[in-house]
Amino acid sequence: MTTTRWPLALDALGFGGDYNPEQWPDEIRVEDVALMREAGVNLVSLGIFSWATIEPMEGVFEWGWLDATMDRLHAADIRVDLATATASPPPWLTAQHPEILPVRADGTVLWPGGRQHYRIASPVWRRYALGMARRIAERYRDHPALALWHVDNEIGCHVPHDFSDDAAVGFRRWLRARYGTIDELNRAWATAFWSQRYSGFDQVLPPRTAPTYPNPTQQLDFARYSSDALLSYYVELRDVLREVTPDVPCTTNFMVTGPSTGAMDYATWAGEMDVVSNDHYVQAADPEPQADIAFSASLVRSLAGGAPWVLMEHATSAVNWQPQNRSRTPEESLRHSFGHLAHGADALLFFQWRASAAGAEKYHSAMLPHAGTDTERWRATVRLGGILRDLAELRGSRVQADAAVLFDWPSTWAAQLDSHPTNLVEPRRLAVALHRALGRRGVTADVVRAGDDLAGYDVILVPALYVVSPEGAANVAAAAARGASALVTFFSGIADEDDHVLLGGYPGAWRDLLGVRAEEFWALQSGEHVGLDDGSSGQLWSELVHALPGTDVVRRFAGGPLDGLPALTRRTVGKGTAWYLATWPSDEASLQRVVDLVVDGSGVVPVVPDLPPGVEVTRRVAADGRSWLIILNHTDAPAVLPVRGTPLLGAGDPNADTVAVAPGAVQVIRQTDDR
Ligand code: GAL
Repeated sequence: MTTTRWPLALDALGFGGDYNPEQWPDEIRVEDVALMREAGVNLVSLGIFSWATIEPMEGVFEWGWLDATMDRLHAADIRVDLATATASPPPWLTAQHPEILPVRADGTVLWPGGRQHYRIASPVWRRYALGMARRIAERYRDHPALALWHVDNEIGCHVPHDFSDDAAVGFRRWLRARYGTIDELNRAWATAFWSQRYSGFDQVLPPRTAPTYPNPTQQLDFARYSSDALLSYYVELRDVLREVTPDVPCTTNFMVTGPSTGAMDYATWAGEMDVVSNDHYVQAADPEPQADIAFSASLVRSLAGGAPWVLMEHATSAVNWQPQNRSRTPEESLRHSFGHLAHGADALLFFQWRASAAGAEKYHSAMLPHAGTDTERWRATVRLGGILRDLAELRGSRVQADAAVLFDWPSTWAAQLDSHPTNLVEPRRLAVALHRALGRRGVTADVVRAGDDLAGYDVILVPALYVVSPEGAANVAAAAARGASALVTFFSGIADEDDHVLLGGYPGAWRDLLGVRAEEFWALQSGEHVGLDDGSSGQLWSELVHALPGTDVVRRFAGGPLDGLPALTRRTVGKGTAWYLATWPSDEASLQRVVDLVVDGSGVVPVVPDLPPGVEVTRRVAADGRSWLIILNHTDAPAVLPVRGTPLLGAGDPNADTVAVAPGAVQVIRQTDDR
């Protein structure tokens, strides 16, 4: 991946947000820039939804406002992440070309009136979008404010899957490339089942709404095709930008958490980015949003290959798009921002700079709220800008991780298809819970795929990795043999990449590694629990599983039809250990005990030993060896940690043996030793 173009010609950590001046009169725009300076903003995303303002009628351009905005921002020393303006087609375009509108599985056309109403496979749309990107690139190619290209916006956010006739054409082309012959497609899709055998690619359709479950491999391939089609759109736009401005890096904002979370296989996208960026929004109903932040940010860091990344959007307080939206105190928001910084972000940007007075997002929080500058929220904005200025030395440093949680989008798509043993197993949710359990132990974990380089990890956790390739399976086994402790949960290694079950007893891909053989799944009902012999219980899943000779049974099912069968096993493999978990602990303390067992035997040293509950800590290390601890106290009590160093936020004694972090506060410690 090209990450050499980092760090965007910024000499500090990035701070700013989406800037939508087209919504405001000029006097407000002038004030905007003055206030951005006051807050310490140094990077804004500009022009994302501005096509209809730039080109109100085909071929009629109004650039003046954008020219003036670019100039003003430059004069204020603020760099621009300039968008291709393609995220929302203008009305004249869809009126003239309704054939670019996307279509749902049931045939519903998604009409204009919102945004992102284009079908990714439409050649007409591609032509117009590329034309717009080129026009913007040519106009601003030499503008000194231009730091980064923002390609479209959250590609796939509202329409991850388009089922139109253009999509059918694109899907068939993709299938031909994947399978070569229709016989090979018939094999992979197992079309002998339910009389689905095709005699030509022209008969194949996207998995449109059918009387009952469409073919699972057809669904899985359509999800793969859709992710690839969205990526190809990015690549086409990026290539135009690169042609015009070879030295300006390109990105598009990922949504590793979000409304369409999971529909794009960002592991295949990341390598096409010059800078990896992500948007993250807290779910109001999530009682512990810091766990999701830590997981998402670790996933983004891992996608960036460990390089610093940009948090392109998050909210200062409430959003507008959840059923009930929750505001957050400035302290809470600061901790959430720091959650990303702690996991490798070098720029913290928000949606958006100034709260809109009208439109669908007028109740979305912003850096500058409706009530103006005499507000807690504005003061929090100014404060964060100051803090980031004070932390400039962190720029470019990298997070150290000794553990890995495996996560794979296509496997997740396959695991969550219909007509399965249960619809309650959500691999991502399990992955977040395992990542959080490691974090509680002070163990930092990357989030990677089975086939990635696992050499640096002494603990590898594998939650419901339903599909795994033979190479991925072997890679995990090799990591264990080399000395890692690997924990594999139920519903992992079950099917191959065509979603065909690996026969001979579950989990076919890892039976030998784990030394277990399951005969039958016993999925649990919602709210049902199965007893375990340590007095705890399991939920979601159980199974009729046997430990093979040489495998220790650490915990057994107790009571019920599986009484006495293994629920948690351990097997020595080469220099390492392979654990198998055949159910999901019902309570967090029991899950923590399982993860603790795995960590205890692994030799992994926590970033800080005996971390107080509710306190998160990571270490960022610079290329020259300097290091910082980033500490987040999510509790309402002071936290005292046995670490030495210079606190960078507020006053503190660099010679003390401990560091105290106030309730709900954050701290950054420049380390003087390794304690
Ligand atoms: C993102 C989007 C932004 C804004 C934001 C609101 O999905 O990129 O434009 O809509 O959500 O939370």
